[in-house]
Amino acid sequence: MTAKKINAGILGTGYYLPEKILSNNDLETIVDTSDEWITERTGIKERRIAADDEATSDLAIRAAEMALKDAKTSPEEIDLIIVATLTSDRIIPSTACMIQNRLGASRAAAFDLSAACAGFAYGLTVAAQFIETGAYKKALVIGAETLSKYINWEDRNTCVLFGDGAGAAVIGQVEDGFGLLSFDLGSDGAGGDAIQIPSSGSLMPVSKESIDQRLNLIHMNGKDVFKFAVKVMGNTVKRSLEKLDMPKEKIDWLVPHQANIRIIQSAARRLAMPMDKVVVNIQKYGNMSAACIPIALAEAAAEKRFHKGDIIALSGFGAGLTWASCIIRWSKED
Ligand code: ACO
Repeated sequence: MTAKKINAGILGTGYYLPEKILSNNDLETIVDTSDEWITERTGIKERRIAADDEATSDLAIRAAEMALKDAKTSPEEIDLIIVATLTSDRIIPSTACMIQNRLGASRAAAFDLSAACAGFAYGLTVAAQFIETGAYKKALVIGAETLSKYINWEDRNTCVLFGDGAGAAVIGQVEDGFGLLSFDLGSDGAGGDAIQIPSSGSLMPVSKESIDQRLNLIHMNGKDVFKFAVKVMGNTVKRSLEKLDMPKEKIDWLVPHQANIRIIQSAARRLAMPMDKVVVNIQKYGNMSAACIPIALAEAAAEKRFHKGDIIALSGFGAGLTWASCIIRWSKED
């Protein structure tokens, strides 16, 4: 890859999780399931659930404030806000505009990005393009979800999988050779039916009938998604590495989307990575779609697991179908 004039990287990270914990034992009282099945088949032990009056923007703002503090950046310095989410507060206005107002980010352009669980890696890549061209100096990228509001609590195939949370990162210029080194974004709309909320937009507006049939909630063909995910998680990282002519052995940390521990283990195997180099928090939070990767990143950063110069691979996949990976050289001092 040709050298860049401006290198875009992560200046600070933050995350927020709602207080309420829903354990597998709690779920046993709601649907016909067991802690043993959920733990063995998914790796999830518990997940966080937003309060009734807590919206995606409420989680996002807390994560954003922590990221800004970590990056020693004021809201007025932010040129761009991207919120990756599939559970925006409303269709309009965008959640990004709500965050812009609540933060007082008076100079920021703002938009939501719809790429489901791959959304944060998509958003990071988009923001980096603005920084690298010099068009913007600082961007705030957030992945935030309140998936609990779209769960069918009678469907054991899906209700045990999801949780709520938000993660954020401030993106700006970093030293030469650091920051976002390469990325791979992709989509396969032919697989779109595998994960969908059928009645949620112009194709089938929400109606009494659609609500009665639970069509306003998440529908998923878990087996199809599983097959897709185990292939794409490793392959997208390999494509990002190929652009750098970098062998997979150079990766210090894999920060994967947290949908199923078996998918994560399979991606790690394909990349020949030991599990202690894979950031895993699925046992605590479940699948929070676009929020998974930035929360895992921010938690690991807060725990000082990353060191300056470490090569970090982000890898996500999700509804769309979409996938995305980013190779980052960590630029923050220990
Ligand atoms: N508790 C107990 N039994 C269950 C449960 C449950 N919660 N859920 C399903 N089962 C049963 C099934 O009914 C089935 O029973 P049967 O054999 O009598 O029909 C059996 O368990 C096996 O079901 P499978 O679907 O084969 O289970 P599998 O091992 O494939 O695990 C799972 C299912 C966890 C959903 C898995 O397929 C998976 O993780 N898929 C990927 C999901 C994903 O990654 N989604 C990400 C996208 S999300 C987004 O973008 C928002």
